[in-house]
Amino acid sequence: MCGIIGYFGKQNNVKIGIDALKRLEYRGYDSAGLAVYDHEKKSIFSIKTVGRIDRLEELFYKSPVSGSPFILHTRWATTGKVTEENAHPQCDCKRNVFVVHNGIIENYKDLKEKLKAKGHKFTSETDTEVISHLIEHYFKGNLEEATAKALKLLKGTYALAVICRDDPEKLVVARLSSPLLIGVGLENGDYLVASDPNAIVPYAKKVVYLEDNELAVMTSEKFFVLKENVLEDKSFEDLDIKMEESQKGEFSHFMLKEIFEEPESIRKSIAGRLLIEEGLANLGGLESVKEKMKGINRLIILGCGTARHAAMIGEYMIEEYAGIPVEVGIGSEFRYKKPVIDENTAVLAISQSGETADTIGALKEAKRKGALALGITNTVGSTQTRETDAGVYNHVGPEIGVASTKVFVSQLAILALLTVFLGRQRGMSLVTGKKIASELEKLPGLAEKILGQSEKIKKIAEKYSKYRNFFFLGRKYNYPIALEGALKLKEVTTLIHAEGYPAGEMKHGPIALIDENFPTFCFVPSDSVYEKMINAIEETKARNGKVIAVATEGNEEIKKMADDLIYIPQTMEMLTPILSVIPAHLFAAYAGLKLGKDIDKPRNLAKSVTVE
Ligand code: BG6
Repeated sequence: MCGIIGYFGKQNNVKIGIDALKRLEYRGYDSAGLAVYDHEKKSIFSIKTVGRIDRLEELFYKSPVSGSPFILHTRWATTGKVTEENAHPQCDCKRNVFVVHNGIIENYKDLKEKLKAKGHKFTSETDTEVISHLIEHYFKGNLEEATAKALKLLKGTYALAVICRDDPEKLVVARLSSPLLIGVGLENGDYLVASDPNAIVPYAKKVVYLEDNELAVMTSEKFFVLKENVLEDKSFEDLDIKMEESQKGEFSHFMLKEIFEEPESIRKSIAGRLLIEEGLANLGGLESVKEKMKGINRLIILGCGTARHAAMIGEYMIEEYAGIPVEVGIGSEFRYKKPVIDENTAVLAISQSGETADTIGALKEAKRKGALALGITNTVGSTQTRETDAGVYNHVGPEIGVASTKVFVSQLAILALLTVFLGRQRGMSLVTGKKIASELEKLPGLAEKILGQSEKIKKIAEKYSKYRNFFFLGRKYNYPIALEGALKLKEVTTLIHAEGYPAGEMKHGPIALIDENFPTFCFVPSDSVYEKMINAIEETKARNGKVIAVATEGNEEIKKMADDLIYIPQTMEMLTPILSVIPAHLFAAYAGLKLGKDIDKPRNLAKSVTVE
């Protein structure tokens, strides 16, 4: 989804804005633009371009302008093609009001017709442009008053920042559903507004998160927040993100760095949460609802993309070891079906960003029906944390690569902890609880062993990067890993079509595609369905299919069957997915690099999609 930046302060230096915008580029990178109030000329200078922020920076420094306030935008196209006209900022007829927006205005066509009838001239296909013309329509000299009136007519979602030539000494921002926060900078009186906290880390130590229907105004004299025209008492909280956490270090790409952080990510997710001797899991974030969770007789786990794959593995874990019926809901589907929910149902939303509109919409729907609302997220202060009754943070640091990797393994580790938490509230024995807890504790070390084979996995990935179609197969706990492996190869190569399948389903159709040009990636750890996976490999080999196998160390039989083999260390069945996914993440990253792709920002994707 788009990323927006706004600045008000004494440092008339647009570079602050451009650097902050670059830290949001994973939210969308179709086009970029900025607008700055030029005190000398008493006018607003604006520049837009198709493509990356580097291009905008290049153009800007051809004739740089210093000034404040300024607003910037990086786009993930929704309404209107990827063109310069459709890039943001969007302005009004008199180039007086300039707006950057993240979200979708659903009634823009209707508003546009009404404004056109009043003589307004439109220059873009975007929904956003109606906002600048609406503000123009209501503008009587005070920007926040005109903006507040305009917002009343909008249906949809928005995080927006507005500046105005005729009321220049202020920055006005507002939010409805799309995330927006305001950082107070190092210099007194300067403010940096952004779509997510990563952007403001170098500048701000304190932050305020805007809630729905809040409008904030920053001037040199004051900062205030209005909700439906009533002053809100807002306090700034500490921003606990370390600078180095959102830098590449010695890696060429964030995705690679984040895959090599997967062992540490597991370690951070279980730190202080394992009570091995008692065979218990200590999840402080669920303490307030611990008693209520004893009465839960059904769990719905929600997620989109990679988070949905985590949810599916949670279903296997919790049903097998805690005996609670679990249903996985696809965020975008769940809210439009008629789920049966009552007060003994809990809903668990899983989201790295905590901002995915589909997941949050489904969560709100389940809550409305009386479910206990729980969450797992990596983003402190995100919308999801404000919609849930209780939850668990991943605490694995910012994830910048658009394709989710280290947070995925953290989600699985936390779902294993939740399985022990719920299981020990019910029939799970001390012995089983201790077994899972002690195996979890060993996982970071086992994961490091797999990364030790990265050069070998790189060679395999480069060898197979010439193929254009792949199957990924798995059974039971590793069926969702087959889906994850396929998604990753699609996401980061943007060239290879890959499908994940429950291996037993192959013979009911998809096997028709198998031949020497259609490789199959098989997850075949030594678990309760090992023999069944071997059948699938034999059926594939019988049709000259090439097989890359991920198997458990010490398995000699598989050596004779697979064309290429990656070993993972032994662990208990329910935890194998946390290890078997690592070769799949590396395989996709190296295949993407071999194909010359920007694996951090694959085309057409965004890190968190805050629109439906
Ligand atoms: C997509 C990302 O936009 O959203 C995926 O590209 C991610 O990597 C999915 O899995 C869900 O995001 P989140 O933040 O809700 O986990």
